[in-house]
Amino acid sequence: MSVAHSDEPLIEVEDLRTYFHSEAGIAKAVDGISFAVRRKKTLGVVGESGCGKSVTARSIMRLIRPPGKIESGSIRYRRGEETLELAGLDPKGRTLREIRGAEIAMIFQEPMTSLNPVFTIGEQITEVIRLHLGAGRGEARRRAIDMLNAVAIPSPHQRIDDYPHQLSGGMRQRAMIAMALSCHPSLLIADEPTTALDVTIQAQVIRLMRDLQREFEAAIIFITHDLGVVAGIADEVMVMYLGEIVERAPVRDLFRDPKHPYTQGLMTSIPSLNGARKQRLPVIEGNVPSPFDLPRGCRFHPRCAHASELCRERAPLLLEAAPEHHVACHLQDPELA
Ligand SMILES: Nc1ncnc2c1ncn2[C@@H]1O[C@H](COP(=O)(O)OP(=O)(O)OP(=O)(O)O)[C@@H](O)[C@H]1O
Ligand SMILES: [Mg+2]
Repeated sequence: MSVAHSDEPLIEVEDLRTYFHSEAGIAKAVDGISFAVRRKKTLGVVGESGCGKSVTARSIMRLIRPPGKIESGSIRYRRGEETLELAGLDPKGRTLREIRGAEIAMIFQEPMTSLNPVFTIGEQITEVIRLHLGAGRGEARRRAIDMLNAVAIPSPHQRIDDYPHQLSGGMRQRAMIAMALSCHPSLLIADEPTTALDVTIQAQVIRLMRDLQREFEAAIIFITHDLGVVAGIADEVMVMYLGEIVERAPVRDLFRDPKHPYTQGLMTSIPSLNGARKQRLPVIEGNVPSPFDLPRGCRFHPRCAHASELCRERAPLLLEAAPEHHVACHLQDPELA
């Protein structure tokens, strides 16, 4: 892949909308989000449960199944000299099959989503390596063992011949991480990759991702509930609420000066940023409303201490409040404040 393009976004999402249709109505899981990620950069994605983080990831991978559907928007992926519109590709076609799991790899929240129960983890990882890196059988097995070792699976020579069910949850997650990383993807989407791991292993896995990212100039989209992890790994962070981006900024700016009341709420609820304590984002007062029944105006207004009449009536746009710092809040709009 051409290094000359390293400053251009590797992936560019524009006004993406992914909805789920059911008898109860339409759940607007992802509702008009735009962002880009460059090579060698990491985008952190945070937000409470149900805000659309995984649906965003699965949309990029084109893994949304009925009743879900990408309604509109574009997902441009730069591949060497060409730009592919992922949103327009045949989900069963050859191009997507080539890309998925090789150029764009995903670590799922639930390891069994990507591990096949009827093959050993060794068979699965070596297949990825042989297919995408063109290695022979022996070489692929050696690399797979190295990779299992790198994600801290003890006795990798033996574990490589285990079936997924023979591994504990944490080991399965590491095996999946090994599989995702062993093909040296250009874009790695990691959906809560370290939640089942203890802090030491978590740090080790994150270090491994960063090393591979540097070596292969990969972009990473890192989804997590853990703001401490985001502070450590991300270059840029986007905060999602009810299918929308409410704030997007370089990581330092976001932590130094969170502008959206929702982001501020998430920040005050973390006890420390030293990574010693791991926890889910505690709930800000009130619940996340159902995506079937979205509040009018600003979607956060029912839970916002600063909400005014305007917030109840009109949805704020995501505007640049400071250089590269975007926020969707009427309080930050100079024309309205
Ligand atoms: N298979 C599905 N069928 C119907 N609705 C779905 C489906 N998957 C997701 N949704 C809807 O999309 C919304 C966003 O889900 P998503 O999995 O992206 O949340 P998330 O931000 O990843 O949450 P978590 O932090 O719990 O993983 C959900 O609230 C749900 O309404
Ligand atoms: Mg999720």
